[in-house]
Amino acid sequence: MRKKIAVITSGGDAPGMNACVRAIVLAANRYGHQVVGFKHGYNGLIENEYKELTADSVQHIIKLGGTILKSARCEAFTTDKGLTTAVNNLTRNEIDSFIVIGGDGSLRGLDRLSKHWDGQVIGVPGTIDNDLSGTDNTIGYQTAIDTALDSIDKLRDTADAFERIFLVEVMGRHAGFIALASAVASGAEQALFPESIEDPHLELESIVQHVECLRKVKGKSSIIMVIAEHLWPGGVTDLAETLTKQIGIECRPCILGHIQRGGAPVAYDRILATKLGTYAVEIINEGQSGVMVGEINNRQCAHKLNYVYSEQKALDPYLVKIQQNIFDVVQCLNQTKTL
Ligand code: F6P
Repeated sequence: MRKKIAVITSGGDAPGMNACVRAIVLAANRYGHQVVGFKHGYNGLIENEYKELTADSVQHIIKLGGTILKSARCEAFTTDKGLTTAVNNLTRNEIDSFIVIGGDGSLRGLDRLSKHWDGQVIGVPGTIDNDLSGTDNTIGYQTAIDTALDSIDKLRDTADAFERIFLVEVMGRHAGFIALASAVASGAEQALFPESIEDPHLELESIVQHVECLRKVKGKSSIIMVIAEHLWPGGVTDLAETLTKQIGIECRPCILGHIQRGGAPVAYDRILATKLGTYAVEIINEGQSGVMVGEINNRQCAHKLNYVYSEQKALDPYLVKIQQNIFDVVQCLNQTKTL
């Protein structure tokens, strides 16, 4: 049956969202469906601002960062009035299936919509944070790691030249995926992320001890600490000041910020986006609804929306062990003492 599929990109944009839109359009065309794109996330659905998406309109967008549909966070959609307007516009435009490419908040919104609209709803994980269950990787995560890594490598050059201590803040919302991965890949001396710290203030002593220990073991040399955003109240600027006072050596903060969301998607994200966009259309053909598509161990899968945003996804425990135990200078020193 020929269907009319609507798509939005919502929340924090992620490299690979365009590749996903392209895949949805090409796969939909292949199966004889029509595709429209609402602009600016859920805002476009409420404002009824949309455009037809054809194979021509998605030509060559696979390599572009950002999103041609624009993105936004939408306060109005969280209200009953906004939700009703969105539902009315889906009905008025005779939409059969609605695909949302976005992160946790966007998929939460989609789940709520599904309780008030009879059409098919499908989520696609698009966020640099990688904090959604039901998929090993979210679209944009691998690119964000590479972007953060590129910056940290550059910081290392100048940190080494001055034998300085740098505290680098990376994104991830309330998850430590980018922090852990970019710390391991850059050979950072320390990584702090929410999954391993309950109360950051209680950790201050151990952070200080860690830096002092590094100085003892490595002598005067550069130290890079990668810190997840929202971890330290006041952010890395505050932590850098506190540490400077405590250890008497100047610590410099560096916030990577939104740079991590930009840039051309790496091959991995383009391929993942292509697979998940295509798979979203294929499960629409099967009549599925209320799920997010994902990929686990290289196999495509679909999980209930409320599972993907409410079940906490764990960091790779082996990577945590390597960063915080096997490669950790303090642990090594303690072990040597007991030998
Ligand atoms: O969810 C993606 C993300 O970039 C998070 O890592 C970050 O906390 C947040 O969005 C920033 O949102 P905004 O661009 O609205 O400030």
